[in-house]
Amino acid sequence: MRIGVVTGGGDCPGLNAVIRSVAKAAARRSWETIGIIGGYDGLLAPGNYRSLDYQALSGLLVRGGTILGTANQGQFTAKVGHGEHRQLPVELLARVKDGMAELGLSALVTIGGDGSLSIAQQFYEYGIPIVGVPKTIDNDLEGTLWTFGFDSAVACATDAIDRLHTTAESHRRVMVLEVMGRYAGWIALYAGVAGGADVILIPEIPFHYDRICTAIQEREKRGRHFSIVVVAEGARECDGEFITAASAPNSREARLGGIGGVVARQIEAKLNKETRVCVLGHLQRGGTPTSFDRALCSIFGAHAVELIAAKDFGTMVAFQGTQITAIPISEAVGRLKTVSPEGAFARTARALGICLGD
Ligand code: F6P
Repeated sequence: MRIGVVTGGGDCPGLNAVIRSVAKAAARRSWETIGIIGGYDGLLAPGNYRSLDYQALSGLLVRGGTILGTANQGQFTAKVGHGEHRQLPVELLARVKDGMAELGLSALVTIGGDGSLSIAQQFYEYGIPIVGVPKTIDNDLEGTLWTFGFDSAVACATDAIDRLHTTAESHRRVMVLEVMGRYAGWIALYAGVAGGADVILIPEIPFHYDRICTAIQEREKRGRHFSIVVVAEGARECDGEFITAASAPNSREARLGGIGGVVARQIEAKLNKETRVCVLGHLQRGGTPTSFDRALCSIFGAHAVELIAAKDFGTMVAFQGTQITAIPISEAVGRLKTVSPEGAFARTARALGICLGD
């Protein structure tokens, strides 16, 4: 039996670790695994792929990015706007099915976030045997407590906060760190708490500048002449708009970015206190996965192979509490898992005296 593995959407630490795990677990069953190059396009005839034999897997556990390449635009784009999904033309689905037959593939493992998994769901409904592995640094997929890549992104952002702390303290400045996460505040909240931020702004809790300024002034009164503000790229002022880095063509999701600079300028103007901004950007997506992510990727990949063996198609591997399980892909896509403003973690932040901007 021959299976294929494909990576889609933005890259993230751990993609290669999942590829390795899938190929190793498949080899134990004497199945051959091939890697589809460049996202779903590689499935179309004549096919673009590479062998994932034992030799090809060497060093993959720790390697960032994806050896298969990826695509988050083109004919297999499902996400066109905030929460909107596009239906693929049936001719394209037919070409994928034919391409897979030509490649001799009995099943496909897709490693992706909301966009790639929405496509996977359409493949499944068209009769293509497929299972999913949840990937995104944003951790915004429903049905799984963790997506792989999130822990690595949080580690990167926490390290950045640690570094900003020392320079903020030395210069008695406010340092604003903008992190990724799209419309979910998981990275900002986890890294902010882990790094001891004073203010954390997330999309789920629209903020007021006077609350942020009061929090910084109160620190001043206590003799703390510096502050760290972590801002999720999707954070926005109460009644304000999302700040976008570039105007997106209609066919693509908006690119968020820039709110960190806006917040920094406002704080500086309102408090007359020197303020700097640091935008962490794609550093959060690069480099080697953390040990937690390496383990999670290994678990996810091996479990995906078990799902194929059980012919449990149309499902996505999920991490729920202490259990690795599978849920229908349809339950994971189409709506985002966002931070609950009254949930345990937001309450923890408040209990620690962190200002959430409201
Ligand atoms: O979804 C992952 C993510 O890194 C988001 O956090 C961010 O908004 C987006 O992708 C950036 O995408 P691009 O790689 O197109 O700049």
